Amino acid sequence: MSTSTAQALSEFNNPNLETLFTAAQIQERIAAMGREIARDYEGKNPLLIGVLKGAVIFVSDLLRAIDLRLGIEFMAISSYGSSTRTSGEVRIVKDLDVAVEGRDILVVEDIVDTGLTLSYMLANLKSRGASSVRLAALLDKFERRERQVEINYLGFQIPDAFVVGYGLDFAERYRNLPYIAVIKDPEIQ
Ligand code: IMP
Ligand code: MG
Repeated sequence: MSTSTAQALSEFNNPNLETLFTAAQIQERIAAMGREIARDYEGKNPLLIGVLKGAVIFVSDLLRAIDLRLGIEFMAISSYGSSTRTSGEVRIVKDLDVAVEGRDILVVEDIVDTGLTLSYMLANLKSRGASSVRLAALLDKFERRERQVEINYLGFQIPDAFVVGYGLDFAERYRNLPYIAVIKDPEIQ
């Protein structure tokens, strides 16, 4: 196969993507977050809750950076159609299989954008009687916030651009990129 053909077929070297954070930068940040979390939860047995599907890759790297006894569960949330989105209505598509009462919960999310999803989810978990509920987010698109959400452990703040990779998708594409990128032209697919 010629080089030009290999380029054209490569998803990872897609010319419509501009790298924002390399795989190495992400890993370096996650290692530091893991150390901080391990220090803060020393002597505890936190339950990490990954938000499907976007946070799957982040949570799988983050939990291996936390040297503690811990548990891992998953939830899936969907927001209603964009017209009702500003009402903050979100729906649990996949709920937890375990009770969270008395547990120290660390929600792990890929990105906080408007904050609607997380403000709902964090309040919901608190109402179930968790001892504590904190949030670890890889990315913070702070300029777009509509609901105040406290991010206890943050990877990176980013500008208001649509990003993909490392779990984040554009119409289910690009979740498998090892790095985080901005789509240059969303019209090109
Ligand atoms: P929020 O409720 O507006 O904070 O929505 C957060 C969710 O929207 C995230 O969990 C992502 O699934 C999705 N999202 C927001 N911004 C982006 C982006 O730039 N790329 C991919 N997904 C995004
Ligand atoms: Mg998500």
